[in-house]
Amino acid sequence: MNTAPPLQLVVLISGNGSNLQAIIDAIEAGSLNARINAVISNQPQALGLERARKHGIPAIALDHSLYPERENFDRVLVSEIKNFSPQLIVLAGYMRILTDYFIKQFSPNILNIHPSLLPKYQGLNTYQRALDNGDKKHGVSIHVVTPQLDAGPVILQSEYPIEEGDDIHSMQQKAHDLEYQMYPLVLKWLSEKRLKLTNDWPLFDNEKLQQAIMFNTL
Ligand code: GAR
Repeated sequence: MNTAPPLQLVVLISGNGSNLQAIIDAIEAGSLNARINAVISNQPQALGLERARKHGIPAIALDHSLYPERENFDRVLVSEIKNFSPQLIVLAGYMRILTDYFIKQFSPNILNIHPSLLPKYQGLNTYQRALDNGDKKHGVSIHVVTPQLDAGPVILQSEYPIEEGDDIHSMQQKAHDLEYQMYPLVLKWLSEKRLKLTNDWPLFDNEKLQQAIMFNTL
């Protein structure tokens, strides 16, 4: 029987929240020993807030457009998050750049999921950029968040082929199929302390993780 306390999470979203749903499902299925203490969205209409409420998880809308200064918004966000005492902040489709102030509060305990093979295609529109460049493969990365956008240590990465006829929609579908397995897996490693986040490199099985683990070869 698993008697370890559950990993306490706050999940930040901006929209659909299908990755959030995958994490909720893994917890409810008993395959992930974690607890989502709150879900917070910077977009009040985010469907992910509804998903959280359906599962009895506190769901908070913090409308960023009410805060002209990015840091003022992040200060409110930080104080809201701290009310829920998380061990880890999980960015799951959170589409807002975090300030250094925010990152300092929780570093190194912030993870993000990004739809590209980082360090390729940091930032937005990764599917279109890969298509425009005629790439033959694309992927998903889960990484530690550091002050430089999409540049922190990558923990888990997965690739998929870009095939004849693929478009943004079909690529997004391929990415999602992988994401829904990858995020719960990384959180499971953390809950089991197989993965430890440090101010230096993450540790995996007590070794420095200097290269991403490739999901496709697990
Ligand atoms: C995910 O595909 C995630 O990789 C991406 O947003 C989507 C959110 O989907 N994240 C980023 O682009 C971060 N820069 P979801 O709201 O259905 O989980």
